[in-house]
Amino acid sequence: MSKKLIKARKYEKEISRHIQGKKPIFHVVAPIGWINDPNGFSWYEGKCHLFCQYHPYSTQWGPMHWAHYCTKDMISWELLPCAMAPDESYDSEGCFSGSALVLEKDHILMYTAVSEKTNADGQRYSIQQQAIAIGDGEQYQKLEQNPVITSDMLPEGCSRKDFRDPKIWEENGIYYALIANQSELGEGQVLLYSSRDIRHWIFVSVFDNSGGKYGKMWECPDFFCLDGQELLLVCPQFMQADGLAFHNGNNAVYFIGKRDAELKKFIRSEAKQIDYGTDFYAPQTTLTPDGRRILIGWMQNWDNRVCPDSFNWCGMMTIPRELSLQNGCLLQTPIRELLNYRTQETKYSKVVLSEMQGEVQLDGVSGRCLDLTVIFTTEGCLAFKIKLASDGKKIGTYLSLDIKKGILSLDRTYSGMRQDVLTSRSMYTDTCHETVKLRILMDYYSIEVFANNGKDVMSMLIYTPIETDKIAFSCEGETEITVEKYNIEVKK
Ligand code: FRU
Repeated sequence: MSKKLIKARKYEKEISRHIQGKKPIFHVVAPIGWINDPNGFSWYEGKCHLFCQYHPYSTQWGPMHWAHYCTKDMISWELLPCAMAPDESYDSEGCFSGSALVLEKDHILMYTAVSEKTNADGQRYSIQQQAIAIGDGEQYQKLEQNPVITSDMLPEGCSRKDFRDPKIWEENGIYYALIANQSELGEGQVLLYSSRDIRHWIFVSVFDNSGGKYGKMWECPDFFCLDGQELLLVCPQFMQADGLAFHNGNNAVYFIGKRDAELKKFIRSEAKQIDYGTDFYAPQTTLTPDGRRILIGWMQNWDNRVCPDSFNWCGMMTIPRELSLQNGCLLQTPIRELLNYRTQETKYSKVVLSEMQGEVQLDGVSGRCLDLTVIFTTEGCLAFKIKLASDGKKIGTYLSLDIKKGILSLDRTYSGMRQDVLTSRSMYTDTCHETVKLRILMDYYSIEVFANNGKDVMSMLIYTPIETDKIAFSCEGETEITVEKYNIEVKK
């Protein structure tokens, strides 16, 4: 084992005993230091493994390692020792994002190896190539032949500096890697490579190219079948906002489409945003042994880091979400295993709420670690508001629905944070029916909202002190609300 990996493992073991800032309980959280992007989300020998981009030594991004977790149900996670450190000449600047698959008895990781070179004028420049590590679920060995997809294997017109985040899969005995790249014209694109043995790869095609439409560079591709359709997920950087969509600069989008007859090009629809919150990026999916497609994302964003300076960890993932398609739209619902961790049920049925009452709190409906479902009637109601993580006075994060416009907003302007750039996001949601259903998950510092059975989703971080836990309902006009609230408890 390299000195760098031994150091990282020792450090995370020792320092993570002294955590500052209480950690969320049912989300994957940085062991210590910084995490971003989920990586290598896969099933291996009966357990689900998740890795992520990791810099143990500070709460800022730095030379990337891979942190490692495993679980049987995607709610209760076990932290495993750091899986990879940037300890080879070809990855000395970082082991960037990648994915995993299982080959016979081996767990295969493919990641982006970043290194630096010097050109004839003595200037340093960075190159990104793809490398493989093979493991047994805990120890991973990088291949001698690394990097297996070098920057020389890029076709003309493709940037060598931006060539990363391979998504690998097997289909009919052939291995495929879909890799994010920027064209020399500054367009985001994904390149397809194939192999018969995961060691020798050939370039197949420019699988999809944004034509300058969606951002300037694509990151973190994923590709899979869902309910009879094919989906491509990518994360365009530097996108132009469009209506309520794409406000975060870096966005995660999906395309529904089909590969052409030779399986080389993706013919697809327009991009749709996966999650409308301030904090969502770089999602990855895996297939459970019982056939469910599950998505997990990094619940943060590059340009809007709001983690408190007093914490010695920064970064968490979203709840794993079950995916399905309905009328050409992606539906996301919290993984059903979460139901096994619900405790302390509180229920209210058809409580009448009117404008005159102002903000109403319901006995037993409070907390910061919960699964809350609210169904309310739309007739006679102009607007509906839930104030979360509130101190009963000024502090609180507002989830508000303008029923006429069908716009649902999540606003952390008054959440108590003192430094924040983007504090609010909105999305359209269907308000044309008798009722609207909102499911809200909170895990101390996060809010995930699933509106109308997961058709419209938004995720947001709030670093409001955790004792600030009141919840209040209010409306314009009149409505009838039905509430179901559970605490979530995970025994370690
Ligand atoms: C996306 C990303 C990836 C890269 C990684 C580096 O968030 O920029 O493209 O591999 O993060 O940590």
